[in-house]
Amino acid sequence: MSDQASKLRNLVEERADEEAQARRIGELYLDVAENTRVIAITSGKGGVGKTNLAVNLAVGLQLAGQRVLLIDADIGMANVNLLMGSVANRSLLDLLNEDVELEDVIENGAAGVKYISGVAGVEVALNVNRLEQRKLHKKLSRCSDIADVIIIDTGAGLNRNVIEFVLAAEEVLLITTSEPTALADAYAVIKAYTTYTERRNIKLVVNRIRDEEECYEVADKINQTTQKFLGLTVGCLGYIYEDKIVREAVHKQEPFLIVNPNSPASRCISELVKSLLSGEKMESVSRGWRGFLDSLFGY
Ligand SMILES: Nc1ncnc2c1ncn2[C@@H]1O[C@H](COP(=O)(O)OP(=O)(O)O)[C@@H](O)[C@H]1O
Ligand SMILES: [Mg+2]
Repeated sequence: MSDQASKLRNLVEERADEEAQARRIGELYLDVAENTRVIAITSGKGGVGKTNLAVNLAVGLQLAGQRVLLIDADIGMANVNLLMGSVANRSLLDLLNEDVELEDVIENGAAGVKYISGVAGVEVALNVNRLEQRKLHKKLSRCSDIADVIIIDTGAGLNRNVIEFVLAAEEVLLITTSEPTALADAYAVIKAYTTYTERRNIKLVVNRIRDEEECYEVADKINQTTQKFLGLTVGCLGYIYEDKIVREAVHKQEPFLIVNPNSPASRCISELVKSLLSGEKMESVSRGWRGFLDSLFGY
C-alpha cells in the first residue's frame, strides 16, 4: 500500500474511532439524563391486588409531586381504567395504527395520573412483528418525557407476556397475600426472575394482612424457600391491611387513597410511597425507560 493510501486509511480509522467514542459518550449521557423510574407490579397468583396497588401507588406518588404514568400491561384482564373511573378511548395496542400517536392513547386519571389503558377481554399476545415492534418502541420512547415514574401493571403468573415486562423493568414489586397458594406462586415468580436476569431488584408487598406480624411471617416463609433453593433473600417494601375501603372504592370506581386517605389501606400506600421515594430505592436508576424498552423489544 502506498504511503499516502495508508495515511488516508489511518485518518479514516481515527475518524471512525472518534465517532464511535462520541456515540458512546452520547449514549452514556442519555442514559444518565433519562432517569425515569420503571416499576413493574406483578404477582404469581391472580386477584391478589396488583391493579389496586398499581393505581393507588400511582396516585400516591403523583400526590407526592412525581409525574406518574401508569401503563396497563395486563393483557386480557386489563382494568386500570375501571379503577381510574374514567373511560379510556384508546389502548396500548392502538399505537400500532399509523395515525395514532402517543398523546392519543394517554388518558387523564385520578389526581392527575396519566395512564395508558390495556386491552381487556381479548387474548392478544405481544408477538407483533419486527416492524410493529419498532413502531411501538419509537412511539413509546417519549413516555419518559412526561413521567418521572412509570408504573406497569402486569398480568399474573409466568406466561411470556408477563415475564418479559417483569424482566425489562428496573424495579419489580411482587404482591402476594398470605394464602399458601399465593405464596407458592410468588416463589415461582422469584425463581423465574432469578433464572432469567442477574438483577435482584425485586421486593415483596404483602396484601390483605390483619396485623403487621402476618407480613413478617409471609416474608419469612418466602425467604426460607428462596434462601434454601436460590441462595437469595427477598426484601419486603411494605404491606397493605385488609380493609373494606378497597372493595367500596372498587365499586365506586375510584382509587381508595382518594375515597379515604386515612383508612388503614390508604395509610399503608402512603408508607409505600415514602419507602419508594426515600433511601429504600432499590438500586440507583441507570437504565431508565429507554433501557426498559430496549430490553422489552430485545435490542
Ligand atoms: N387490601 C385489601 N383489602 C380488602 N380487599 C382487597 C384488598 N386488596 C384487594 N382486595 C380485593 O381483591 C380484589 C382484586 O384486586 P385487584 O387489585 O383487582 O387484583 P389483581 O389486579 O391482582 O387481579 C379487589 O377488587 C378487592 O375486592
Ligand atoms: Mg389486575
